[in-house]
Amino acid sequence: MKITIIGTGYVGLVTGACLAELGNNVFCLDVDQKKIDILNSGGIPIHEPGLADVVTRNRAAGRLTFSTDVAASVAHGDIQFIAVGTPPDEDGSADLQYVLAAARNIGRHMDGFKVVVDKSTVPVGTADKVRAAILEELQAREAGVTFSVVSNPEFLKEGAAVEDFMRPDRIVIGCDDTPEGQQAHALMKKLYAPFNRNHERTFWMDVRSAEFTKYAANAMLATRISFMNELANLADKVGADIEAVRHGIGSDPRIGYSFLYAGCGYGGSCFPKDVQALERTARDYGQDLLILRAVEEVNHHQKHVLGQKIVERFGENLTGRHFAVWGLAFKPNTDDMREASSRVLLRQLLERGASVAVHDPVAMAEARRVLALDFADASHMLERIRFSDSPMDALRGADALAIVTEWKAFRSPDFDQVKSLLKAPVIFDGRNLFEPDVIGAAGFEYHGIGRSVLTKS
Ligand code: UDX
Repeated sequence: MKITIIGTGYVGLVTGACLAELGNNVFCLDVDQKKIDILNSGGIPIHEPGLADVVTRNRAAGRLTFSTDVAASVAHGDIQFIAVGTPPDEDGSADLQYVLAAARNIGRHMDGFKVVVDKSTVPVGTADKVRAAILEELQAREAGVTFSVVSNPEFLKEGAAVEDFMRPDRIVIGCDDTPEGQQAHALMKKLYAPFNRNHERTFWMDVRSAEFTKYAANAMLATRISFMNELANLADKVGADIEAVRHGIGSDPRIGYSFLYAGCGYGGSCFPKDVQALERTARDYGQDLLILRAVEEVNHHQKHVLGQKIVERFGENLTGRHFAVWGLAFKPNTDDMREASSRVLLRQLLERGASVAVHDPVAMAEARRVLALDFADASHMLERIRFSDSPMDALRGADALAIVTEWKAFRSPDFDQVKSLLKAPVIFDGRNLFEPDVIGAAGFEYHGIGRSVLTKS
């Protein structure tokens, strides 16, 4: 099938490459000439496991094209995926200017039936706005062509996006109950048929419910994390082990094990933004989403917990102290630093006068860029960040190690080496990577999240 993807960001690029891998002929459009040049010269602008292979293979096979040519992109695809960014406005609502600009371009150039798919995460009701924008353009040039707007949210996790796309646990598609909607339904069914061979994974619904589903899923996951984080803080006080509690409750199939890991807060491009956008939508309709407000507040607090533990241990004034920080990306297998907890910890430490040595297996270049912006007005703080080439190098002469991202490479270090490089054997573990009794026996003073019962004994 002939497919157009508008926006070669994270979602667009993964969707385009994977749809090409299924044998479709995919045209990817972006306004950013630099990005298109990188893609056309065989590069990949983001770090995502497996993506480079899929892109290279399908470009070579002639099934994947990258271009800035808007008219050609509209002419190409019977299905037009809108996968552009929806950054949060100042008030937390999703900024739809890029989505609507893409819609207007489609309306301006289309000369036959098109299915227009909202792939970007967009607030409930956006499909109506996309429809109106296309209609306006069609009317302006008195074009009598038809189209249908479909909602098909993505559920890709960064670091596992190709795998998630190729083996989805569900495909959510919202179509209108109109003749055009039925035409769209038929085309979408054909497109996703390869995923439904063994058993049906598609959930068909109305457009608004599909839009809502995406937010509901992310809000639920964020809620689970904040719930566990809040309980972990209490566990620290009452002397319980949150990991034991996680096992104890996760074994109930109604609860399940996943997304119950306490830590130093969630980050990334989705949870923070989507929780805020759903709250904003609710407010627009006169409802206050009390739970989500709390989820956000808890997460904000949680990003400070590791720093607070360090302050409790070393005092408010950290001048002259030096800390090693392992992990900068908001989670493993990505170089994404958006809303990363590491940024909050670094600020806490640097503001109190400490210096730091940081290491991340892939996010070093991105960290240099992001931290330069974070501390643009405070070069004296930026100067106190040393970017280390290896985790062990970061430890040299540090008063303690703080772990912020749960990279596999950090899970089983040579503890003797760690001890010999640190000034004192103290670890603040924001992701509960280690077993407190084991690490205690190895001679470390260990501060996890919600595990102090074991550390104290
Ligand atoms: C998320 C959703 O999982 C995905 O379905 C959606 O499409 C986009 O948003 P992503 O942002 O890539 O994906 O990351 P995810 O793996 O969900 O992790 C988000 C954050 O939560 C990370 O900072 C992670 O460290 C944190 N997390 C996750 C926890 O703190 N505890 C957990 O138990 C799980």
